[in-house]
Amino acid sequence: MFDLILRNCSFPDGRSGLDIGIADGRILAVEAALPGAAGEVIDAAGQLVTPPFVDAHFHMDATLSYGLPRVNQSGTLLEGIALWGELKPMLTQEALVERALAYCDWAVAKGLLAIRSHVDVCDPRLQAVEALLHVKEQVRPWLDLQLVAFPQDGVLRAPGALANLTRALDMGVDVVGGIPHFERTMADGAESVRILCELAAERGLPVDMHCDESDDPLSRHIETLAFHTQRLGLGGRVAGSHLTSMHSMDNYYVSKLLPLIVEAGVAAIANPLINITLQGRHDTYPKRRGMTRVPELLAAGVPVAFGHDCVMDPWYSLGSGDMLEVAAMGLHVAQMTSQDGMRACFKAVTETPAQILGLEGYGLAPGCRADLVLLQARDPIEALRLRATRLLVLKAGKVVARSPAAVATLNLPGRPGQIDFARRSS
Ligand code: FE2
Repeated sequence: MFDLILRNCSFPDGRSGLDIGIADGRILAVEAALPGAAGEVIDAAGQLVTPPFVDAHFHMDATLSYGLPRVNQSGTLLEGIALWGELKPMLTQEALVERALAYCDWAVAKGLLAIRSHVDVCDPRLQAVEALLHVKEQVRPWLDLQLVAFPQDGVLRAPGALANLTRALDMGVDVVGGIPHFERTMADGAESVRILCELAAERGLPVDMHCDESDDPLSRHIETLAFHTQRLGLGGRVAGSHLTSMHSMDNYYVSKLLPLIVEAGVAAIANPLINITLQGRHDTYPKRRGMTRVPELLAAGVPVAFGHDCVMDPWYSLGSGDMLEVAAMGLHVAQMTSQDGMRACFKAVTETPAQILGLEGYGLAPGCRADLVLLQARDPIEALRLRATRLLVLKAGKVVARSPAAVATLNLPGRPGQIDFARRSS
């Protein structure tokens, strides 16, 4: 006896015509024409069912604060950091919680059920940490929120930042963060990576560092991150976020660097929407694209996820928690237009970040958690092309969000009335 059967589903790996039987919040069986009774049956009508979207890189303490206290005029990362510094003293716990919860609502509606959020630990009151730990507990039944202790102003550059970061970890923050390219010198950047990796090793925690979010080709902290990951045996639980300087690096050096990243077991998280807008601001023409070398990292065997990074905050004025928009931007910026490339972009907002976050029971196999999204598309490529509507979002086998199908009604002589933009994608 199942609680729910989802009939006639297409899967991201190309299988189709499958039924998913769900009981006690888990997937119990996956097969064609699944026999057995069910409390409820939903006809997926051949549409794509995917495990939920996962965002490997976000800033939930800043989200939905756009315009407070003013808008970023230059559009640069550095003005964004300065603006966040102006906003911080004005933040209240209530406002932080309210905005984070509002964003989590958007996320659930978009089928985004797991988020790794950095949280700034440079404020000695640790107000944002307290607020997001509270939000994490509140949303736990429907959204996995993982927190990274992020020293926005530099763990060595900002007075007291290391002590604050350590306190945040004591309070229950899950991951050690860093920002080596924002330290005062390259040497301090490298030292910060050493200190933070050793702290993570001592405490048995993962590491996720903002690393080389810069157009400076000489910003090479990813090399140091790979070195300490290997030295301390942290492989498989370290991620380098952004890595945009790699875009501007010399090809010869990158040919040495990529194997070091692979050898160390460091994952990469690119943030295409944000870095295409923040980077290259000092260029005239040609203007550099602000994203790391995604196809080259993937070809070398590095797991690469795409993150949303920002939604309506000091760094980015747009966004709605739609990881298909993130993946579509990554696809365009990296020119990943082959069938394999497009499928890799879909994986970069589903399977790969789930692996980086270490999510338990993620997937579509029997035994996995029944966290599922039914999309108005038949395959991942069509989902990307259409930024497909999330018809249903299920958490532990229960529908937690639904959206009406996107259709247009035409009023043209001799042409069909209702269209839905469906076309074969593969
Ligand atoms: Fe970030």
